[in-house]
Amino acid sequence: MNILVVLAVAAVFGVLRFRRASLLVWAGAWWVGLYLLLRFGFTVPIPSSVVTIYMGIVTLAIAAYVSSSDERRGEIAGPLVRFMTDKRYTASLGAAVIAIPALAAANVYVQMNVPLEPPLFSRTVHPASPAEITVGEKKVDLNAGENPFRHLETSNPDEFRGHVEKGRQVYYRNCVFCHGDNLAGNGMFVHGLDPIPTNFADPGTIAMLQETFLFWRIAKGGPGLPEEGGPWATAMPAWEKFLTEEEIWDVILFLYEFTGQRPRATEEVAEP
Ligand code: HEC
Repeated sequence: MNILVVLAVAAVFGVLRFRRASLLVWAGAWWVGLYLLLRFGFTVPIPSSVVTIYMGIVTLAIAAYVSSSDERRGEIAGPLVRFMTDKRYTASLGAAVIAIPALAAANVYVQMNVPLEPPLFSRTVHPASPAEITVGEKKVDLNAGENPFRHLETSNPDEFRGHVEKGRQVYYRNCVFCHGDNLAGNGMFVHGLDPIPTNFADPGTIAMLQETFLFWRIAKGGPGLPEEGGPWATAMPAWEKFLTEEEIWDVILFLYEFTGQRPRATEEVAEP
């Protein structure tokens, strides 16, 4: 219990008793006093829904008490009727008539103006990849930047087309459900996913990344993301469990071929 609040409420009740307050004042004092006790009288805060229930019961109890005899009804109604009819109180009555809706409006205004809370975590969409990962038994160097089959594009275009074609099959067997049949991140599963699957047709995605980065993301998926890549809701599977290393490199070639984008250059040396 918060002793200060309890003592303050008790003191006000004492003063009212001493001054022989009217029944109307007592009813108001009980209501406010019990509210203050519930709201601030306990060191452990009481949920506001519980306070609302208790105050509902208190309101009913006070209403039952003051209306339980003609005498009490008169004591309550008398001052109210005088307040509303006596010429002396016209100004105060006007003020009350304006103040009550104004308070309600102010309350709504304050509640609507609560600033939007930023999300608890911000997600880094492209966290730094590790330097090296192990897929199956094999270590894959992620600093290399380039797809090991990329050089075929110029040296052996036929073989290159073969890899892209295999990548296409890998894509439409595995990835299309989420990343969509035109690679725009709008597959049939997207409605249940947050974050949504990456839209590879968007120039802000794979064109800004190196092929080794994609290899890491495809091989290790959502579970392989470091802490700053969280929160942990991404549905991107860890494909190392289902695809061979070569199939992953092939599907990467396909992603670039289909969208007409180029991977980010390995060396970006600015000319002085
Ligand atoms: C179950 C749905 C699902 C499937 C199936 C799926 N992905 Fe994803 N993928 C996602 C989601 C969601 C994201 C975005 C969140 C993230 O980066 O993890 C994503 C992200 C990616 C990224 C990261 C892009 C970036 O900008 O960092 C790549 C690359 C990727 N997917 C490739 C693939 C490939 C290739 C396949 C098929 C072998 C595939 N995905 C299958 C859901 C899926």
